Amino acid sequence: MKYSLSTAVALGASLAASQCTFTITASGGQSGTVGQLSDGQNRIGGSNPEGTFTISNGQITDSSNRGCILTPPTTQFQCDVGATATGGFAIGSNGEITSNGSNVFYACPATSDMYNIYTTPVSGQSLCVEITLTASDCFATSTMASSMMPTTMQTSIVQASTVQETSTVQETVTSQVQETSTVQETATSQVQETSTVQETATSQVQETSTVQETATSQATAPTSTSTSCAANLSGAYQFPHLIVPVFSTSPTTAAGTSFSGTITSSISSIFNFDFPSTLTGTCSLVFLFPTQSELTTSSFTFSGNGELDFACLTTLATQSTTFDNMGSILTDFGTKTITPGSSTVISTFPCPAGQAVSYEISSVSDTSLSFFQDFNPSPIGLYITSC
Ligand SMILES: *[C@@H]1O[C@H](CO)[C@@H](O)[C@H](O)[C@H]1NC(C)=O
Ligand SMILES: *[C@@H]1O[C@H](CO)[C@@H](O)[C@H](O)[C@H]1NC(C)=O
Repeated sequence: MKYSLSTAVALGASLAASQCTFTITASGGQSGTVGQLSDGQNRIGGSNPEGTFTISNGQITDSSNRGCILTPPTTQFQCDVGATATGGFAIGSNGEITSNGSNVFYACPATSDMYNIYTTPVSGQSLCVEITLTASDCFATSTMASSMMPTTMQTSIVQASTVQETSTVQETVTSQVQETSTVQETATSQVQETSTVQETATSQVQETSTVQETATSQATAPTSTSTSCAANLSGAYQFPHLIVPVFSTSPTTAAGTSFSGTITSSISSIFNFDFPSTLTGTCSLVFLFPTQSELTTSSFTFSGNGELDFACLTTLATQSTTFDNMGSILTDFGTKTITPGSSTVISTFPCPAGQAVSYEISSVSDTSLSFFQDFNPSPIGLYITSC
């Protein structure tokens, strides 16, 4: 059965006993609804029928009652006849699906227009991208009596203030745009993609599963600590879950999310990071800027002397963020000179565990930079590394 939040409350006691079904939307490096091949492989892209899934006690089955597993050794998320569903899945308060506590999944190309889903990137595949998965249903507000819910739901529920947005039309547009930019391997076509200034960003609006309820979470400014974490992705790192450009020349325009960072004299980009609650050590904000020849799946345009200003904002950005409502600077990390071939530690601080934080990059001295944020070798863009 399928139910909405309002009917779920009304249904009350039947909830625990009943099954909860949902569909899945991918966001991030690839986006779109998750469909299924007839054999139960879950895919992003292509024209497969949308999958309908059921979660119970941390185990997911599909509408053909196949158990969904993380196939060893690749960890591909697929549903197999007769398989015992892999445990450890949960759906968070905003619909975010986690496996074993992690909300990071990977989409790796299966064909020219379809992506398989994994919990770890496939070794040797250079085109895997990080994604998050959002369930259409099976998450609830804390107004529901937790005793009525399965244990796995109880553990994943926190106070939710918003109900997930869905927009099928936008997802379709985004997945087409994104497939094109990822599958194209020629540098020229990617340069065109990323050099398109995103003031016409309606085509790039995508759904995001980023937690956006904690806008007031930045209670304190990060305190600088001395020892930096790595300015590379060899160790633990976080990638941005939302990138939003804002325009000083069009201050009320909300461009929505972007896969690229764009910085010009009139455009700044805001990057949201969700710090896991388990990340309690030291974190560094780093900007990685390889040379074009080191990039295989990304590209950039760059001009000027490379001076960019990095700052932590008071207000968490959302898809509705504009230049006018973006809030102000909580901590200005100052001007750094960012040129191709550089890896720069912007600032080092105690990790704000469990919080979501927005960082802004803006232009100094007319530097212009547009880049497709991408962790594939060689990684480019703004990251958090931890140590
Ligand atoms: C879940 O995490 C534990 C601890 O890291 C690990 O031992 C286990 O293999 C993981 N299970 C899956 C299905 O990834
Ligand atoms: C990443 O940075 C760390 C710390 O600076 C360094 O020890 C390590 O060699 C670097 N890894 C690569 C692949 O450059």
